[in-house]
Amino acid sequence: MKFQRLRGTHDIFGDDAAAFQKVESLAREIFARFGFSELRTPVLEHKELFTRALGTETDVVQKEMYEFTDRSGEQVAMRPEGTAGVVRAYLENNFDKTMGLAKLYYLGPMFRSERPQAGRLRQFHQIGVEAMGTDSPYADAETIHCLVTFLEAAGAGGFTVKMNNLGTFEERDSFKAELKKYFKPHAKALCEDCRNRFEKNVFRLLDCKVPGCRTLIEKSPTITAHLSEASQTHFSKVLEGLEHSGVRAVIDPFLVRGLDYYTKTVFEISHPRLGAQDALAAGGRYDTLVSAFGGDRAGSVGFAIGLERLLMCVVPEKAVDKPFEQGFFVVTLGENAFKKGFELLSLLRADGVRAEMDFNAKSMKSQMRSADKTRFNYALILGDDELAKNEFVLKDLKIGQQKSADLKRLSEIAQDPQQLFR
Ligand code: HAM
Repeated sequence: MKFQRLRGTHDIFGDDAAAFQKVESLAREIFARFGFSELRTPVLEHKELFTRALGTETDVVQKEMYEFTDRSGEQVAMRPEGTAGVVRAYLENNFDKTMGLAKLYYLGPMFRSERPQAGRLRQFHQIGVEAMGTDSPYADAETIHCLVTFLEAAGAGGFTVKMNNLGTFEERDSFKAELKKYFKPHAKALCEDCRNRFEKNVFRLLDCKVPGCRTLIEKSPTITAHLSEASQTHFSKVLEGLEHSGVRAVIDPFLVRGLDYYTKTVFEISHPRLGAQDALAAGGRYDTLVSAFGGDRAGSVGFAIGLERLLMCVVPEKAVDKPFEQGFFVVTLGENAFKKGFELLSLLRADGVRAEMDFNAKSMKSQMRSADKTRFNYALILGDDELAKNEFVLKDLKIGQQKSADLKRLSEIAQDPQQLFR
């Protein structure tokens, strides 16, 4: 019986694993520059954490959560996103009291049972940040600036930053009444999901991608007339802050997000390389989530980037020969030399030096081929002759020269192999 991975999941290895490592360490460096520190939250959480945070009528909660009753009878879910868990951790660990303003970042796998297609997976990875405990519009601008700085440094330039102001929940309620009035006569032209959304939360309808619904949405009223002066001032200060940070953004009055916790600022980064699933990253402000989870009111803002989508946007570097790396490939001839070679391999590693050996290859030629593949810059060669003299041969694979040396000097030479060739 041969097993296959589940649909919408991936094994990550080789160049992809290297690309993941590269963007992850870049994220750590840039997020630290913007004052964020790491938080790792569990993949499993109480299901209710997500239904409450994301909204019971959202697609994620309605159709996409991996949820089950565990052996102790608890209703749990595998996290579909990071924000809810971060807010839980913020309150559970008293960050609101100890940090004041908490600026945290996270990276890791998320799970959504969506129909898999290019750029849409069931297990995907997000890198995200959350700043909790600030109402300042400059925090929104700083967060977006951090996102844009990271995406550019990662080599994913060419994206568009789209923004909208969704106001407060109260402002949205009066807007919803107007939306209902607008969509009511068109109810028959709406898709089945949207007819349902019309009843349960008409605002969700604005997120529909079905072409028939889109045409109606694009002619629908916008929220602007329902926004208070405070919400409008906040948003214009965010735009001002972005201008000062050199970030260009376009306003999209129809931009809504698939999660219900957003208030005021929302944004989405789209990239032409992504096709239908064109959202590379998204986020916004969520001023009521902390208090909805039982904390004191704490204005908050954050974003998340889809790592797989990010790698689809990164322009690949020109293929160049892999450079040589400092390391020793141990090559042996004969059984006694093999045993000694294995001992030296352990010695080198204990000295903090990268070392490899091919246990399967028999001939010298096939061992040298394996050495080539590692791109290590030295081969340490041992045969019966060398053993008899208590020596080893060191070959500099970059220049093709080789020299013999006493085995007793191995540790010293391993720290500065070039001393043999000077
Ligand atoms: P989101 O818009 O649901 O927001 O997801 C953010 C990003 O995750 C998307 O733009 C996309 O790149 C990636 N993503 C989402 N679903 C999939 C999938 N099925 N396959 C591949 N990539 C996917 C959030 O998750 C919010 N927590 C963002 C946030 C943080 N808002 C405030 N703070």
